[in-house]
Amino acid sequence: MTEVQFILKSYSKTKESGQVTWESPSNIALVKYWGKKKGQIPENTSISFTLSNCKTITTVSFEPKSTNGFEFEVYLDGEKKEDFKPKIETFFKRIEGYVPFLKDFKFKIETKNTFPHSSGIASSASGMSALALCLMSIEQLVSQVEMTDSYFNQKASFLARLGSGSACRSIEGNLVVWGNHHAIPKSSDLFGIKYPLEVHKVFHNYQDTILLVDQGQKQVSSTIGHNLMHGHPFAQDRFKQANANIEKLIPVLSSGDLETFIELMESEALSLHAMMMTSLPYFILMKPHTLAIINKIWAFRKQTGLPVGFTLDAGANVHVLYPEKEKNKILEFIQNELVAFCENEQYICDQIGFGANQIQ
Ligand code: PMV
Repeated sequence: MTEVQFILKSYSKTKESGQVTWESPSNIALVKYWGKKKGQIPENTSISFTLSNCKTITTVSFEPKSTNGFEFEVYLDGEKKEDFKPKIETFFKRIEGYVPFLKDFKFKIETKNTFPHSSGIASSASGMSALALCLMSIEQLVSQVEMTDSYFNQKASFLARLGSGSACRSIEGNLVVWGNHHAIPKSSDLFGIKYPLEVHKVFHNYQDTILLVDQGQKQVSSTIGHNLMHGHPFAQDRFKQANANIEKLIPVLSSGDLETFIELMESEALSLHAMMMTSLPYFILMKPHTLAIINKIWAFRKQTGLPVGFTLDAGANVHVLYPEKEKNKILEFIQNELVAFCENEQYICDQIGFGANQIQ
């Protein structure tokens, strides 16, 4: 499938107003996307667990207008957010060719997150995917062409990718792959697909407890972060490593080999951070408490043999991942030994989820 298939060719210049609402989850990458080519094309394939509780709920109201240009207002938790507008304007410019009705309507975008806005959890994946889904519902209303669910989801993921790369992995669940990979049938650089190969039942209800180590502003925006991979001395090897890790993960996901799963996941997290430490300019996004938590997890795993591991995003928070059947013992460990390292003792209990839902 190429970009051309996502261009909406005919639609009715309807005079109707309306409103749509979607909730869309965040996701946590097991093999990380870090580095992109022009047009939001990833340098390597990534794979993520879709989450369940951490989500964005977005309502888009629209009414016809006859003026030129984009017209929209954005609200977070009922409060007007002028500072969100430039990012959405850029998004609209990027996707206008595929959803040409954007300039025919005035939009009111009302959004809220189920997790604290300042928690340091990336809201761009859930936020951009929720907005893309709302726009697809509007496309469905104004277009005269029948649309299959699969096309709807693919185009929503395609649009979300143009807002924030990792957002394309938030439309469906429970494991999503983005980026063309020879070992994964139908994988694409243009949108995320549901992981099509066998997944062992241990992963069906995998848990993710997110330890909020640093709830401040992100030190490095992901746009800057991705750009630091251009001319990075280890970039090409990193892209090869990630693609090789995808291949190594395939038998692990089907067999439920948790030891290798944890090894791959933790190595990916540390490789991502190693890339940032070796960029110019360089960054250390982990905090002393991030390291303290990692060491505690390693010691606990060694001592108990329980399959608990971690991953990190481009920040200091720690995602602790483990199978549901070990939930009681691991939550007890988290409460007794890890929560003390969280800012204001805050953490979020989440688990693997099944993708976005239309509310209205
Ligand atoms: O979607 P972006 O551009 O914010 O990039 C996200 C990158 C990581 O979260 C660090 C990794 C990933 O694959 O989600």
